[in-house]
Amino acid sequence: MTEANKTLSIAVASGKGGVGKTNLALNLGFALHELGQTLVLLDADLGLANLDVLLGLSPEKNLQDLLGDATAENVVVPLAKEGFVFLPSASGVAELVELDEDVRALLLGKLEALFRQYDFLLLDLGAGISPTVLSFAAMPQERIVVITPEPTSLTDSYALIKVLCTQHQVRNFQIIVNMAESDKEAKSAFNRLAQACERFLTLPISLLGVVHRDPMVTESVRHQVPFMKFAPTCQAAQDIREIAKKIIERRIKLRDLISRTPILKSLI
Ligand SMILES: Nc1ncnc2c1ncn2[C@@H]1O[C@H](COP(=O)(O)OP(=O)(O)OP(=O)(O)O)[C@@H](O)[C@H]1O
Ligand SMILES: [Mg+2]
Repeated sequence: MTEANKTLSIAVASGKGGVGKTNLALNLGFALHELGQTLVLLDADLGLANLDVLLGLSPEKNLQDLLGDATAENVVVPLAKEGFVFLPSASGVAELVELDEDVRALLLGKLEALFRQYDFLLLDLGAGISPTVLSFAAMPQERIVVITPEPTSLTDSYALIKVLCTQHQVRNFQIIVNMAESDKEAKSAFNRLAQACERFLTLPISLLGVVHRDPMVTESVRHQVPFMKFAPTCQAAQDIREIAKKIIERRIKLRDLISRTPILKSLI
């Protein structure tokens, strides 16, 4: 009998670029780990290897090496003593779309074997609605869409949600409002998006949490240290911890569903 899946996979996506996906994914990883969870953080951004930079790392191998002899264990970079690893992939992701069936199956097999050892798989995505971003956004069990209170972020995130909903049959979206000046501003931004989704897509979306604008985020980026480490008591770190707790509760609540759902629906 095959072992039931226990891993909850979550993509961190956004319509507009530069809204804080990579910082949130990375620090959410540290918060989840701090709360005793195990996880893999996968860089699924097509463009720049942002996670490497935020961590001050230059990994030797990436996802593409898995197409050769490398095992997933050779490729991952430990981010903590145990239970938290980073899988670099940025430079290889675009090419993965072109893979033929056999190679893709081999890769997916190696990835599955790795992912299923952990409680969570977090994917940091590129921004926008390119076909590869959409495929990556549709694969995991859950999606966090990061928005900011700016009007352009709202229209772009609505566009992303709309395409995923209408073309990829995805209907579960969790929203994080980032860089909010106040809870009131965050609520109002979320409400505007929620109303549009309800009205035009008949789609309810949920507010997962709010991360306030915090100068320590920028400061930590400058030091190439995640803000959960650099300034563990700053506002953004407290906000992220709240979100991590909610995600842990969600995994417990969704346990039965997770055990019956593949970690990644199909690779691209
Ligand atoms: N809560 C916050 N408070 C202040 N600044 C923030 C916050 N979140 C993110 N930033 C700033 O926004 C910048 C962009 O963040 P990040 O690289 O995580 O965005 P992204 O959505 O991953 O971008 P891309 O779309 O290019 O991948 C960071 O360098 C950081 O300075
Ligand atoms: Mg990014």
